[in-house]
Amino acid sequence: MVTFVVEHLDPELGPWSALEYKTIARESSEAGCDFILSSVPTSLLQSKELNDVGASARSDAVEVYFAHQKDRICLLDPAAKQELQPSDTQHFDVLLFGGILGDDPPRDRTSELRKKGFAGRRLGPVQMTTDTAVRVTRKVMLEGKKLEEIPYIDFPELKFAEHESTEMPFRYVTDTEGNPIMPEGMIELIKADADKGFDTLDFADENDGMGNLALNDAR
Ligand SMILES: C[S@@+](CC[C@H](N)C(=O)[O-])C[C@H]1O[C@@H](n2cnc3c(N)ncnc32)[C@H](O)[C@@H]1O
Repeated sequence: MVTFVVEHLDPELGPWSALEYKTIARESSEAGCDFILSSVPTSLLQSKELNDVGASARSDAVEVYFAHQKDRICLLDPAAKQELQPSDTQHFDVLLFGGILGDDPPRDRTSELRKKGFAGRRLGPVQMTTDTAVRVTRKVMLEGKKLEEIPYIDFPELKFAEHESTEMPFRYVTDTEGNPIMPEGMIELIKADADKGFDTLDFADENDGMGNLALNDAR
């Protein structure tokens, strides 16, 4: 059985990340796998946002608490040379992901984990959200699927109203109807962020401190 680890790399826990983590926690539990959210600032450990996620959270880093099995840890890394494949179950027990929101263009914050020297595997050339990356990894490692057997959609456009839409700059796994699989509540959150006003959102390029990202830089 494999363990999924997300290293939380932001100082806060924004609503987007919280929804992604909650989804990872639920889906890991349904698959009978452990999910650990680590490197969580101690100030967040007792917070309501984190409790609502339902993950097993801790403040130390994966290389500390899994020091004895570092060579069995695989970092899912968009810049890795090798693609993840079903036979990797022989090599790895711990699948590690960056707990960061995607950005467009990608800023390669996964490098913060890469420099710690873990083995790395890629999930194809397109950036995914963290919950999508975990979903794809689960399909490869637990269901024995090859990456090319998993149905995807790249850069889906979410339409909120006749003249209101936003393109998500990510690859998503699709459901049986071809729709992108997203965390419950995510579409509402994206719409609410969009409703806050495109003018302000357009020029921001960083997390605004409340955990909301600008649409031109987000997810
Ligand atoms: C939203 S992505 C972050 C990508 C981001 N732009 C960056 O700065 O690296 C969050 C995490 O999902 C995983 N991930 C996303 N897309 C991936 C891909 N194509 N191959 C491997 N891992 C991926 C990585 O672990 C990454 O740290």
